[in-house]
Amino acid sequence: MLRQALLQMSKSHRVRSIVSGAPLTRSVVTRFIAGSSTDDGVRASSDIVHSGRLVTLDNLGEDTLDVHQARATRDEYLRLLTGLDDAGLAEGGRAEVSVKLSALGQALPSGGDRIALDHAREVCQAAEKVGTTVTLDMEDHTTTDDTLNALRELRRDFPSVGAVLQAYLRRTESDCRDLATAGSRVRLCKGAYDEPASVAYTERSEVDRSYVRCARVLMAGQGYPMLATHDPRMVDIGGALARRYGREQGSYEFQMLFGIRPDEQVRLAASGERMRVYVPYGDDWYGYFMRRLAERPANTMFFLRAIATKG
Ligand code: FDA
Repeated sequence: MLRQALLQMSKSHRVRSIVSGAPLTRSVVTRFIAGSSTDDGVRASSDIVHSGRLVTLDNLGEDTLDVHQARATRDEYLRLLTGLDDAGLAEGGRAEVSVKLSALGQALPSGGDRIALDHAREVCQAAEKVGTTVTLDMEDHTTTDDTLNALRELRRDFPSVGAVLQAYLRRTESDCRDLATAGSRVRLCKGAYDEPASVAYTERSEVDRSYVRCARVLMAGQGYPMLATHDPRMVDIGGALARRYGREQGSYEFQMLFGIRPDEQVRLAASGERMRVYVPYGDDWYGYFMRRLAERPANTMFFLRAIATKG
C-alpha cells in the first residue's frame, strides 16, 4: 500500500514541487544522490573506484517532453564522459554510464523513439572513444519493447551496450533467454515501478522466485550477467549459481545503488567480486528519490525521522 502510494506520488507534479522545494529534503536526498554537478558525479566515482569498486553513472532525469531538455541531457552525458576520461576513470569501463531513453527524448510526441535513439548513439560513440560502456536503464513496462528495440539497433554498432531486465515482469525470463548470448551485458534487477498484475508479479515472494529463475538463465548462458540487488539472499544465490555454472569471478558482476549497503559493497569487492555502484547525480532527483523511499519502509522512516527531528 505504502509502496504503491509513494510510486503514485512519484508521478505527481504537485507533490514533486512540494518535496523538491523543501530545503530539508535536499539534505536528506544526499544519502542516495552524489550531488548536482558533473564534477560531483566524477568526484564520487573517483572515491568509489579508488576503493576497489566500479561505477555506473546516471544523470538524473526522466520522462522528458521537451526536445531541448533531451538534447541537454545528451550534452551532459558527453560532458560527463569527457570528465571521466580526464580523471582516468573511463578506460577499461571502471566508470561507465547508465541512460534512460525517456530522458533522451523517447516520450516526445513526435518521433520520440528516433530522437532518443540518435541521442543514445552519440552517447555510445563518446563512450567507445574513451574506452567505456553504456547501459540502457529500463523504465515502466509500456517502454520495454521500445527499449529492447533500441538496444538491438545500438548493439549493431556498439555490441557492448548493456540492457536492464526487471524480474517482476512476467515476460522477463523469456527476455533473459533471448539476451543470454555471447558478449551480451544484462543487468538483472527486481524492478522499481508501479506495475499492474496483468504484466507483473505483485507478491514479493513471486518476484524473488522470478529473480532466481532469471539469474539462473543468465548465469548459465554465454553473456555477462550483472546482478543488481541489495538482497542478501539474491547475492548468495548469485554466488552459488556462479559456482554451479563454473563462472570465474570477473565473468559476471554484482551491482548496488549509491548509499545502499556500502559496507556490503566493499566486502564483496574485497572478496574478489566485481562490484559496481550505480551513482546518480543531478538536480532532477525527485522520481529516483521517491522510488528509493517506496522500496523499503526503513527508507521512508529515515525520511520521516529527519523531518520530525528538524521540526
Ligand atoms: P528489495 O528491495 O526486495 O530488498 C531485499 C532486501 O535487501 C531487504 O529485505 C534488505 O535485506 C536488503 N536491503 C534493501 N535495501 C536495503 C537498504 N537500504 N539497507 C539495507 N538493506 C537493504 N529498477 C528498474 O526498474 N530499472 C532500472 O533500470 C534499475 N536499475 C538499477 C540499477 C542498479 C545497479 C540497482 C541496484 C537497482 C536498479 N533498479 C532498477 C532498482 C531495482 O529494480 C530495485 O527496485 C531495487 O534494487 C531494490 O530491490 P532489491 O533487489 O535491492 O531488493
